[in-house]
Amino acid sequence: MADLFDKIHTDETIRRAKDATDIGMYPYFRALSHSEGVTATFEGKEVVMLGSNNYLGLTTDPRVRRAAIEAIERYGTSVTGSRFLNGTLELHLELERRLAKFVGKEAAVVFSTGYQSNVGAISAVVQKGDYVIVDKDDHASIVDGCTMSQGEMKRFRHNSVESLESVLSRLPADAGKLVVVDGVYSMGGDIAPLPELIEICQKYGARVMVDDAHGIGVTGNGRGTGEHFGKTDQVDLIMGTFSKSFASIGGFIAGDADIIYYIQHKARSLIFSAALPAPNAAAVLAALDIIETEPQHVKNLWENAEYMRAGLKGMGYNTGLSNTPIIPVILGDDFRVGLAWNALIEEGVYTNPVVPPGTPPGGGLLRTSYTATHRKEHLDRALHAFKTVGERLDFIPISPEMTPAK
Ligand SMILES: Cc1ncc(COP(=O)(O)O)c(C=O)c1O
Repeated sequence: MADLFDKIHTDETIRRAKDATDIGMYPYFRALSHSEGVTATFEGKEVVMLGSNNYLGLTTDPRVRRAAIEAIERYGTSVTGSRFLNGTLELHLELERRLAKFVGKEAAVVFSTGYQSNVGAISAVVQKGDYVIVDKDDHASIVDGCTMSQGEMKRFRHNSVESLESVLSRLPADAGKLVVVDGVYSMGGDIAPLPELIEICQKYGARVMVDDAHGIGVTGNGRGTGEHFGKTDQVDLIMGTFSKSFASIGGFIAGDADIIYYIQHKARSLIFSAALPAPNAAAVLAALDIIETEPQHVKNLWENAEYMRAGLKGMGYNTGLSNTPIIPVILGDDFRVGLAWNALIEEGVYTNPVVPPGTPPGGGLLRTSYTATHRKEHLDRALHAFKTVGERLDFIPISPEMTPAK
């Protein structure tokens, strides 16, 4: 008789994980013992952190820390209930007002994670007979939201306006349609061509949703990808997370007041899950104060990213189409990624290894991402490590004019 758990012994992901562990190269679920934003301690070694989404460096800002501590003192550690019932605090409502204003929309609703925001909003809005059309590189939470919805999911080629048009043109004209894209792609670090995508959506009567998890705090002077292109009013739903630039955890959906009211009453991941704890909400409010009044953080972030992009490209690394503070270093197969990841740790640099299915086959990469508070000495240390490792493993052509500071 078959046992449900038989798959444990045949599953491909598990086999690859065990193979990597056997040769001492398994990189996942390994703990940091200390993290101060731009540096961390990983298995006893001090590393420069190029693996976080702490774009503005606010996770360690004293004002953000203090706001979270004061909220714990005032409200305790948990709201122990759903937003629908006992879990709504005045802090949540204040945060929703502030976020809506920040991204230029009438209203917003706050969820306990970014993942739940996408799953909840998409499955609420896309109903039987509707279509949801997603970019092939969209985040997993978008895909899960589509799967949970009663509608039909279609995909188009990454950032391809032609492919989107070809999908939309074949759908029934009178069906409801939602097109969902990432503002900034979390692995490739490239930006969605929103103006062109929006034009096609309008031609076919499709609503537009932008997951701006990596855009909020980064693009459009921190206000996101809609603002970056001057198109906020033509994006119907803006999703953002608190787990990146906002130095917390949680997420939100912003849009016109009537659709937000609808989502509030329909999103199962909002209604049937406990609300964001007060310290997390308070941390986001403190982060918002900083982002709104201190533009230097976004500026520093971009300067750091451009410095690293030039440095990595100058050595001959393939950074794909990245034009944001997410810079992938594309290396190819799992083995090369594993070797480079380990060697960089040895050299004191922490990156995130990403292999298929997180990337296309053969497109394994080290995802690097930058923070406003990285200092030049951190970045030079990282460039030096990439140079040492790349040359040792024969991954980069040695370019004599590129000799990053040690
Ligand atoms: C593009 C994108 N959307 C949604 C999420 C989910 O957000 P969270 O981790 O805050 O739940 C992530 C997180 O990695 C993301 O990168």
